[in-house]
Amino acid sequence: MADFDLNSLPYYNLQKDRKVALVTGGNSGIGWFTVLHLYMHGFAVYVAGRNSSRVSRAIKDIKKEAKARIEKLDPKDRHSVGELRFLSLDLTQLKTVEKATKKFRSLEASLDVLINNAGVMALPFSVTEDGFEIQLQTNYIAHFLLAMQLLPSIKRCRGRVISVSSIGHNLELSYFSLAQSFNYKPNIIFTWMRYAMAKTASIQFAKMLAIKHPTVLCMSVHPGLVMKTNLFSYWTRLPIVGIFFWFYFQLVGYFFGVSNEQGSVATLKAALSTELQREWDNGKYLTTGGKESKPSYVANNLDNAASTWLWTVHELRDRGYDV
Ligand SMILES: NC(=O)c1ccc[n+]([C@@H]2O[C@H](COP(=O)([O-])OP(=O)(O)OC[C@H]3O[C@@H](n4cnc5c(N)ncnc54)[C@H](OP(=O)(O)O)[C@@H]3O)[C@@H](O)[C@H]2O)c1
Repeated sequence: MADFDLNSLPYYNLQKDRKVALVTGGNSGIGWFTVLHLYMHGFAVYVAGRNSSRVSRAIKDIKKEAKARIEKLDPKDRHSVGELRFLSLDLTQLKTVEKATKKFRSLEASLDVLINNAGVMALPFSVTEDGFEIQLQTNYIAHFLLAMQLLPSIKRCRGRVISVSSIGHNLELSYFSLAQSFNYKPNIIFTWMRYAMAKTASIQFAKMLAIKHPTVLCMSVHPGLVMKTNLFSYWTRLPIVGIFFWFYFQLVGYFFGVSNEQGSVATLKAALSTELQREWDNGKYLTTGGKESKPSYVANNLDNAASTWLWTVHELRDRGYDV
């Protein structure tokens, strides 16, 4: 089956429609192309990231790329672009998430699309200043807080929330409470379990949010195996064995991989397609190229999802966050 056609997505006029999106981790990899297409479809996009110079560079490059692509089009097919803005946020520090949501709400009345895209993968065990394992907080907990604090803005326009999960969630073969942090050795095995749990929780979050707030369309996606992003750099930069990992990832990419841009297709379909309806599609999971798929049994089970939700709400409230 061919990938979903991004040209079939609606185009908006910034002045007339003012459609607003917020994308975490939009400065590199899959997020970069997600931002490019939202911008080319007329969205005002808040590119939320932790490093202002990396995000500013990405904004400059995305504008340049959009201009070059538009110039190649037949004049009758050209559309006006949106705008790009930097929003400071470091997912490993929950206080910056709260600051970012306050800043956003002071600037915009509503949020049409929230894309929880940023992520880290297979890092060694470490704990953030908020007391969560780093992969869990970056991939899931900080995004949970971000979405919950932006929910009034999202509900105001019956917007969408998209969680970028991963096929790696399947590595969680049976359900574990998120209180179990799998701080065991060897890291090369247990780090994948921590990643799988964080990405399972992202899918469960989309399902629960869809049930609790049915006026919002909530979906999760696996973007595909996209080997030319920075997600793998911890492993490829390891001394000596890094070369082996680099070669291995290249091989996987050659046989099974998709480009960074193809990696953005599932997210963009979930975020913009008018074919998707809250009534039928809420809580669903899309995979590479935007195909509908079924997540693992663990991720699909609503009892597990409810336990994950409750655990997260309690943990955030214990830290003083209003969710
Ligand atoms: N690539 C794949 O094959 C694949 C497969 C399945 C799922 N995914 C998921 O796709 C998403 C995008 O990954 P990618 O492959 O495009 O990797 P990437 O190029 O490494 O992009 C990750 C983005 O997340 C940002 N980020 C990481 N930690 C952050 C933090 N503490 N605060 C704010 N932003 C942070 C990074 O910002 P910096 O530039 O500042 O580091 C970067 O912009 C991730 O959620 C990943 O798990 C990827």
